[in-house]
Amino acid sequence: MNTPPKAKTFLIKTWGCQMNVYDSARMADVLTVMGYVQTDDLLTADLVIFNTCHIREKASVKLFSELGRLHKVHRARPDQGAGALIAVAGCVAQAGGEEIATRVPYVDMIFGPQTYHLLPEMITRALRKKGVVLNTDFPPEPKFDFLPQAHGATGVSAFLAIQEGCDQFCSYCVVPYTRGMEYSRSFASILQEADTLIAGGAKELTLLGQNVNAYRDGQTGQGLAELLARLAERPELLRLRYMTSHPLSMDDELIEAHGAIPKLMPFLHLPIQSGSDKILEAMNRKHKAEVYLRVVEKLRAARPDLALSSDFIVGFPGETEEDFEATMQLAREVTYAQAFSFKYSRRPGTPAAAMKNQIPEEVKEERLAQLQALLRDQQTAFNMACAGQSLPVLFDGLSDRAGFVFGRTPYLQAARAPGGAELIGQVRNVKITHAAPNSLDGILE
Ligand code: 5AD
Ligand code: SF4
Repeated sequence: MNTPPKAKTFLIKTWGCQMNVYDSARMADVLTVMGYVQTDDLLTADLVIFNTCHIREKASVKLFSELGRLHKVHRARPDQGAGALIAVAGCVAQAGGEEIATRVPYVDMIFGPQTYHLLPEMITRALRKKGVVLNTDFPPEPKFDFLPQAHGATGVSAFLAIQEGCDQFCSYCVVPYTRGMEYSRSFASILQEADTLIAGGAKELTLLGQNVNAYRDGQTGQGLAELLARLAERPELLRLRYMTSHPLSMDDELIEAHGAIPKLMPFLHLPIQSGSDKILEAMNRKHKAEVYLRVVEKLRAARPDLALSSDFIVGFPGETEEDFEATMQLAREVTYAQAFSFKYSRRPGTPAAAMKNQIPEEVKEERLAQLQALLRDQQTAFNMACAGQSLPVLFDGLSDRAGFVFGRTPYLQAARAPGGAELIGQVRNVKITHAAPNSLDGILE
């Protein structure tokens, strides 16, 4: 009797932002259509894809050590890894494809974020093992028109890319170079993908884009507020979110949507980067701190319980103690439920990398520690204030602790309650009995 051929397996390791998580899921869809099966065993995988992040130097450096580790693992295989393919995808591939090809000769495929719909033909070429397959073009056709629909169960909370790329050119940022110019998908194709995700079990959608609130359907001119309203009409869909927004694209229609659409969760990631107007100008953010504060004010008027998150960069070239104090002051004024903060990282090819007055590492570290202490206190206070309250939690998985389920509050806090798998996919009110800086515990009401 003939035994059926064993299906080939793939493993994707993802670094960086939610857009990379989304891209990895879509790559998995392409590979599934090709007959590949997902595995978590690095040793036996027939195809390993590293989906990389270029935003700060640390992330890029990690890639090379991971590749070295994988190479060692593969050399220990009986076939010494000869049958397996190794691919570098994502923003490091886009920014430094040639360098990877020369530095790491055993990499078989290098491709950027806009060409992974071509995986089938890249794999066919790579299997011939006649040198690296490099594809870091920005093809004229958008990949979205060629990707297969999402496959199987999508999870309770799913990402959906509606916009990609960025035309803002903040002076520190590689995104406009690695992801390309702004592109908005059509309303129709987004709704179709949303329905596939809903059919796969999604109860919450997070709409993604590097500059997501600049979203506009090219043909009809419909924007993010209309898209949210249309998605909110889907009865199976319980929650909507979107990220990442630019303060300048936060128009009145979208602000009003926060008050008008109950399914739009009262939590918004709205990066400011710095509280100093001088630094904001050097960053090419194109607005003053005051403009951001007015947007926050309007948002809170529309949705009084709105909680905010932000990104901050400390130690940008030319940042004085006074500039840094302005950032601290702004954070105190806004009061965040949660926020990310980073030391400025000099990225090759960006205007800020060539600026003269770079800040010494120790100063950056000192300022980051101060800002993070403040943001941690704010997050702790926000969580502590939830103790004793009843919060609706969307459960999306079993907790590591036996007999408990895990989910998210409207404010994206991690929450845990006693219960089983039957709760997954449901929103239930949870009485918070214990609040900690990073999570909440409670009991079902
Ligand atoms: N250095 C430090 N942080 C950066 N970010 C983007 N580029 C850099 C850089 N060169 C941060 C910004 C952005 C987030 C995704 O990463 O805060 O909002
Ligand atoms: Fe980068 Fe600025 Fe665009 Fe955000 S808005 S992706 S920080 S260039």
